[in-house]
Amino acid sequence: MAKLIVNADIPKGTIDRNIYGHFSEHLGRCIYEGIWVGERSPIPNIDGMRSDVVEALRKLRVPVLRWPGGCFADEYHWKDGVGPAEQRKRMINTHWGGVVEDNRFGTHEFMRFCELIGAEPYVCGNVGSGTVAEMSEWVEYMTFGGESPMADWRRRNGREKPWKLAYFGVGNENWGCGGNMRPEYYADLYRRYACYVRNYGDNRIFKIACGANSKDYDWTEVVMRQAGRFMDGLSLHYYTIPTGRWNEKGSATEFDEKLWFATLKHTLFMDELIRRHDAIMTAYDPEKRVALIVDEWGTWYDVEPGTNPGFLYQQNTMRDALVAGINLNIFHNHCDRVRMANIAQLVNVLQAVILTEGARMVLTPTYHVMDMYNVHQGAALVAAELDGPVYEMDGERIDQLSVSASVDSSGRLHVSLCNLHHADSADIVCDIRGLAVSEAAGTILTADAMQAHNTFDEPEAVKPASFDGFRMEGGRLVGRLPARSVVVLEVR
Ligand code: AHR
Repeated sequence: MAKLIVNADIPKGTIDRNIYGHFSEHLGRCIYEGIWVGERSPIPNIDGMRSDVVEALRKLRVPVLRWPGGCFADEYHWKDGVGPAEQRKRMINTHWGGVVEDNRFGTHEFMRFCELIGAEPYVCGNVGSGTVAEMSEWVEYMTFGGESPMADWRRRNGREKPWKLAYFGVGNENWGCGGNMRPEYYADLYRRYACYVRNYGDNRIFKIACGANSKDYDWTEVVMRQAGRFMDGLSLHYYTIPTGRWNEKGSATEFDEKLWFATLKHTLFMDELIRRHDAIMTAYDPEKRVALIVDEWGTWYDVEPGTNPGFLYQQNTMRDALVAGINLNIFHNHCDRVRMANIAQLVNVLQAVILTEGARMVLTPTYHVMDMYNVHQGAALVAAELDGPVYEMDGERIDQLSVSASVDSSGRLHVSLCNLHHADSADIVCDIRGLAVSEAAGTILTADAMQAHNTFDEPEAVKPASFDGFRMEGGRLVGRLPARSVVVLEVR
């Protein structure tokens, strides 16, 4: 029997709602088809953005959206994407499929999309192949309210008022696709570029430096030491790859219990990564002023058979639901340092919450987990100690359960629990302290098979159901978590 002690009266910090952020890149069918279909499309749209996707994302309460990349960001020249659509420059998207990018979706369209879904924009600038002036002018274009060359150009392009822009990234993966830089070199460039990312009027920009690739702790060490005091956030990218090998990552839908286990084990590594990067950051920033921004996370599989390898289109199963639940629990439990995270990517790419095909749209298991977990947005993390069973496979051992708990502004306690085991349920007794408790009820996401997923023909194969599997016994909550399940309970 697993034992969980929740101290509902011991707050441990706020779960920033930006932990529920998303990422959208000019990659495959994310922007084009997934978001943008154009005003004249037969697919219902609002100003060219597909209405079904807008509605689903509004419902999901997406707090922040990162754009335009990714690797694309360090090849993107924003001036090509503003002004009359038919005059916009066409370019080759060299990173992603070698397709023509006609710049139809640019700054104005992105800002409009953010307004429609109710998200804060997080724009990533070009350090790899762009100039300081170009980055500085982009910020002026977006946020300056007075008279200036860029603000006047924005007005001529149809937008009178400046936009509010809270988050700006100074480059993406500059250790790799963003310029193959050494951390010493990037740290100096960061200081220079960030200097010209100005605060105009009352707009205040939270500046995010490019952070490490997974366990490149040296990158964090050097960048924090040389440039830590000039940044508000430092990013971290980590993807879950079932096999751990980039050349053969594994299928999204065809896998056995060994790959299920390996995928979840790789996901749990996020906890160690955050701890170790945090420890390095703490040496330079003991007050935890600089946030760790996990602005790319999620599963990365081999693409769906028959699709463009450069488009990174993959299905999404119950396994992805567990990956999402585990990662979100980890982010919650590190909310003192992790203050934003952006799942990769929003629609049709990697661990997407939405898939589209023509006029059809499907919500993935990952969508449902994020929707269920939304009760934690902005809530106070509370202490939750778990003494649970071990999940073993071929001599390797991981925790079978993952948990986090929070109390929202109305005093409601929510506990999210994942049972990682592919076949075994888990009995659990919860001792809830600091709150008078009489019942617990909530929502569960589970399915008969590990590989269960939603398709355009069967869009509701995996969907949340109400869950009342817990009862009061001797002043404690006792219940059973089914195998391969994600549960969010409200404890009253
Ligand atoms: O999300 C896909 C790619 O993964 C991004 O463009 C890049 O930043 C990362 O390597």
